[in-house]
Amino acid sequence: MNIVLKSKFIINDIAHMTFEYKSTKEIIPGQFVNILVPNTGFMLRRPFSIFSAGENTFSILMKIIGKGTEHISAMNIGEKTDILIPLGNGFACDNDNKSTLLVAGGIGLAGINMFITKNSKILFGDKDGEYEPIIRHLKLDVMYISESGRIGKRGMVSQYIDYFEAERIIACGPRQMLRALKDVIKDDVEYYAIYEEIMACGIGLCSGCSVKLNDGTFKKVCKDGPVFDGKRIVYE
Ligand code: FES
Repeated sequence: MNIVLKSKFIINDIAHMTFEYKSTKEIIPGQFVNILVPNTGFMLRRPFSIFSAGENTFSILMKIIGKGTEHISAMNIGEKTDILIPLGNGFACDNDNKSTLLVAGGIGLAGINMFITKNSKILFGDKDGEYEPIIRHLKLDVMYISESGRIGKRGMVSQYIDYFEAERIIACGPRQMLRALKDVIKDDVEYYAIYEEIMACGIGLCSGCSVKLNDGTFKKVCKDGPVFDGKRIVYE
């Protein structure tokens, strides 16, 4: 069982929650957690990218999208729930010197946060600038793109990757965004997509999270991912 240590709504529907972490297993960027919704009969856990990891703690950045996330975000400090962590294969890229561009769409920001270093270049996009208070709260230096153009530049993040020199792109966000990036990323640039899918077991037992690759094979997002070669995914 993991205890809630901190909980705060940054804006109306986005909460940042910090939990106690007792395991000695190292948490790697790209990994996720599967949280049992407390005080309900909900069978399905809810998966979240691990937003940050500290000494004996980890946190999630959660968008409230239904009853499950509503119940989790309503947990008080000191309350406990059962959390499977760390899940999935992360991707440790801090030991090489490759120039990396991080791309996030909306709450996909939670998936890239652990990859951020002081040299990171970040391209962030949303619909109408609704994440601007979050970016400000986190003090992130990003190129901001909004579809409406209300904040930052107008359009989609895929239209702006040529503004950056990068040998590698790591992206997390809506499927359309990941697909659009695949179409514009040059052949000699590595593309790592953090693929999000509805999860049931979260540990490879139920096949509920399959993703198709371009060689016709299927992989399990929870066990083989969630970080995949973004050029190999068939985005359906
Ligand atoms: Fe069950 Fe992935 S969620 S196999």
